[in-house]
This record gives sequence, structure tokens and C-alpha cells, in this order.
Amino acid sequence: MKRILILFAHPKFEQSKTNKALVCKVINREGVTFHDLYEHYPDFNIDVLREKKLLQQHDIVIWHHPFYWYNCPPLMKQWIDVVLEFGWAYGPDGNALKNKKCLNVITTGGSRELYCSEGNNHYSVNEFLRPFEQTARLCGMEYLPPFAVMGTHGISQPQLQRHAEQYDLLIWSLKTDAGFGALSDCSFLNDTPLLNKKNKL
Ligand SMILES: Cc1cc2nc3c(=O)[nH]c(=O)nc-3n(C[C@H](O)[C@H](O)[C@H](O)COP(=O)(O)O)c2cc1C
Repeated sequence: MKRILILFAHPKFEQSKTNKALVCKVINREGVTFHDLYEHYPDFNIDVLREKKLLQQHDIVIWHHPFYWYNCPPLMKQWIDVVLEFGWAYGPDGNALKNKKCLNVITTGGSRELYCSEGNNHYSVNEFLRPFEQTARLCGMEYLPPFAVMGTHGISQPQLQRHAEQYDLLIWSLKTDAGFGALSDCSFLNDTPLLNKKNKL
């Protein structure tokens, strides 16, 4: 079984609706380490050695966060800046993360239709996530398409529950290496047949 590290960053988790529902579903799953960065490092003083050890103990890394100004909240960026060191995560001898899998799990206030060239946000979510994709690649990791819960402001309770169940299924699929099929044309893991076996939203 693959071990999954969920790196979670939400500056206002106590006020969260969407991420709370997602986190509740997966936090206690076997083989999953849920790591709340704002809880551990409220002063942004990240223990780099500890984070490196955690990374080494897992096969799959998830950057789980709400979308803030088309990006991650600042503590996650700080985590990337200080933990992914040259000579360890990348560079000639930087092989520590090689062949691990990596993906973003995000929630966005804007709905999917707004994230395209004709929409208010002009670019797709995948385009906004390019720095994460390339960061993962530079570290020799396999970057998977994101899992995204979008349009959070207008989401109903049943829809939220369905998203949380899909996230749970995603975790199970990653853990058991179930395989998502061809991902080259896939923008979101949400859309893979594996995560849509039962009733659709
Ligand atoms: C500071 C801030 C910046 C935000 N920036 C974006 C954004 O760029 N795009 C977007 O779609 N939603 C944006 N949002 C909305 C959040 O992504 C949304 O409220 C969150 O994902 C909902 O999850 P929660 O219920 O767990 O807080 C922003 C919210 C805040 C507070």
C-alpha cells in the first residue's frame, strides 16, 4: 500500500465549510498522514528536517489548499521555498523525491466556467497551477492532474458530501495504485471514470 502525505494549508480552517468536509472524510484513513501546516507552524517557522523526514516516509504528496489569489496560501509557498532544497529535492544529487507522485487538491470560490479564456479568470486552473507542476517535475516527481472542488460559494450540502466521497475514493485509488487510465487529456482527476463509478453530481 502506498503512503500518502497530505500537506494542508488553510489560514482560516475554523471558518471553513468546503475543506472541513473534505478533510473530515480522509483524515483518519489508514496510510494517510494529515499534516496541517498552519496548526504546526503558526509562526511560519518550518522545521525543515522534520518535513524532509515526513516526505521520505511517504510515496505520494498532496498539496491541499484553498485557492487564494490564484495560488496557495502563503505558508504553503513558504514550505515549498524552505523544504525543497537544492542538493536534496533537485539539482545534481537532489534525488530525495524522485518517482514520488504529487498533486494539488484545491477548492475555489469561482466555478469551473469562469476558469477559461472567455471566463472572468481568463486562464484555466491547470494553467494557474503550472508552477506547482513544474516544481514537482524539477524534483523528479510525477505530477498528476488536480482534484478541484469549484464554485464553493454556491455549493449544496449533498454536492459537498459527494465531493468529499470522491476525495475519499481518490485517496483509496492512490493508496492502492488503482490507476486512473490515460491522464494526458485529463484536466481534473474529478473527471476520471474511476472516481465516477456511482451517481454523478
Ligand atoms: C484571500 C482570499 C483569496 C481568494 N482567492 C480566490 C481566487 O483567486 N480564486 C477563487 O476562485 N477563489 C478565491 N477565494 C475563495 C476561496 O478559494 C474559497 O472561499 C475557499 O476555497 C472555500 O473553502 P473553505 O470553505 O474551506 O474556506 C479566495 C478567498 C480568500 C479569503
